[in-house]
Order: sequence, then structure tokens, then C-alpha cells
Amino acid sequence: MCEPTHYRIDYEINQWMRRANAVRTERANAQWRGLHETLIALGVDVELVEQGADTPDMTFTANAGIVAGERFIPANFRFPERQLEEARFTGWFQEHGYRIETVHEPHYWEGEGDVLPGEGAVFAGYRFRTEFRALDHIDELLGCETVRLELTDPRFYHLDTCLAPLGGGRGLFYPPAFTEESRRALAERFATLIAVSDHDAARFACNAVVAGETVVLNAGCTETVRALREHGLAVVETPMDEFIKAGGSVKCLLLMLDAFGDGRGRP
Ligand code: ARG
Repeated sequence: MCEPTHYRIDYEINQWMRRANAVRTERANAQWRGLHETLIALGVDVELVEQGADTPDMTFTANAGIVAGERFIPANFRFPERQLEEARFTGWFQEHGYRIETVHEPHYWEGEGDVLPGEGAVFAGYRFRTEFRALDHIDELLGCETVRLELTDPRFYHLDTCLAPLGGGRGLFYPPAFTEESRRALAERFATLIAVSDHDAARFACNAVVAGETVVLNAGCTETVRALREHGLAVVETPMDEFIKAGGSVKCLLLMLDAFGDGRGRP
């Protein structure tokens, strides 16, 4: 995670960001600390990377890349506004003993924002931030065939804004953000798909993380919370509205260090 010491809305690279809608810094810091404390209370080990003054979106660490065992595969950010983050994240992983492996330039892709493990597979969203061709190389590096999902709605521009694998065959998703073919691919992989409403999707209900059997998500997603409980999960709601201003929530603020299991990238 990355404490939002320099988190600002300096530019507009997605439909949520408006420079006029400035971050309320104290409130953002309190929300981030609330999430951090929630995760620690759930038994998650959290490592921190420091935000650079010139990288206002760096707090969204999900986009840094993916971690496969001892390897870190850094993102190629789509927008120049975020490209300065690459050196900072790579530096952290080098200092911490990871081997860096890169995808073929110049294809862009945005890390765990679009490449998510679940159900013994790896799901990969493409179109807005990640190029289909970058995924060919991700497949090579991970030694598997990613389940490719075409995204359709620019408000849900990363896969982690419209899909959350929850374990045990369960997943949370926002159907209109996917093509029909992608929805079919999801239905083949998940035993139980919980569809979120337009209202909850716009509150980033799918941008959730699961720790054990507890799902952590933004406050105010009432229907989703009810559905999650019906499916046997515990839920912690934590307010994230200062981050939704930039197009992110709980999941975007995390990069999983143990996401791609056995060191060969196979979940
Ligand atoms: N402002 C950031 C961007 O547009 C938000 C990133 C959200 N991250 C995510 N994993 N969905 O790039």
C-alpha cells in the first residue's frame, strides 16, 4: 500500500476525475488509514511504498504491476501522467529482492487493475487501459492462458472496478461492464456470480478485497452487502469517497504480494 501523502487530482484520465473536485486531504488520509487498520485487523501483512510528490495517483498501487513469486512484472501505464510511477515501484521491488521482468514494449497494461487471479485461473480485462497484445506476453511470463475479458463501459475501465473474485466459486461483478462473450467466460469459471446494481457499481462495490471470508468494500453498497452475507461472507464497509473521486476504491489501493502463488506464476 502507499499512504496518500501526495494524492491529488491534477489531471483527468478517467470519467470520475475532475480537477475542480479537489481531494479533501485530511479526509482522504483518514479513509486510507481506516482501510489500512481494517486490513491489519483482518490479519493481512501490509508493506508500504512511499508516494512521490510528482505521482499523485501512486496511492493506487494495484496498477504498479503484478507479483509472481520472486518476480515483479511492472505495468506500462497507458497515460504519461502515471508513467513516472514505474521507476518508483520498480525501485521498491528491486530493493526488496525481487527480479524484474517486463512485457514487450510498447504495449500498455496496468497491473493487477486488469490482471486478477481467481478460481484457479487468471482473469485479464482489456480495452481501456490494457492492450490485448500485452496479455500475450503476460501469458508467457505466467505460463498460463489468461481468461480475456473485454470491457465495455469507460466508467469501469479496469477489471478490478467490475469484477472481484471472492474464493469458493463466488465472484462479484457488474454485468453491463462486460461484452456478452466475456459474461459467458465468467459464467463458465464461477459457480456463483453475484451481480451488483447500477447504484452499487457506481459506489465501486466490485472494487472489493477478500481476506479469508471477509469482504472489505466502500460504505453504502447496501444491496451488495446483503447479497454477500447471504452467500456466507462477512463484510466490512469502510468509506472511500475521497478515492472514488479519482476512480478508485479499496482494491485499487492494494497490490497483492502473494497473488500469483507458487513462484512460477500459477495461482
Ligand atoms: N486515477 C487512477 C487512474 O485513472 C485510478 C486508478 C484506479 N485503480 C484501479 N486499480 N482501478 O489511473
